[in-house]
Amino acid sequence: MSEELVVEQVEAAKPSVKITVRPNGPFRVEGLIELVDVNGQVWDLTGKPAISLCRCGLSSKRPFCDGTHGREGWKCDASPVPVEPVALG
Ligand code: FES
Repeated sequence: MSEELVVEQVEAAKPSVKITVRPNGPFRVEGLIELVDVNGQVWDLTGKPAISLCRCGLSSKRPFCDGTHGREGWKCDASPVPVEPVALG
């Protein structure tokens, strides 16, 4: 597959899942996803168009956020940083 074709395919692809880093909080995941535990069991997310995944590690309902981050005053901000291009082939 040529590099140009790969670039075209990547640019043409529309994301089906959106993950938003919430300020000082969880990852908000929107879209059709499958969430699998360490044993390969799948969470039933039927009827949930979006979920919040714990980013602080303090939730008692991990992998889901239960709001503990706010009560504990957990702080973390994240923004994209430039990444080095990866050579193909
Ligand atoms: S991010 Fe909310 S409890 Fe961890």
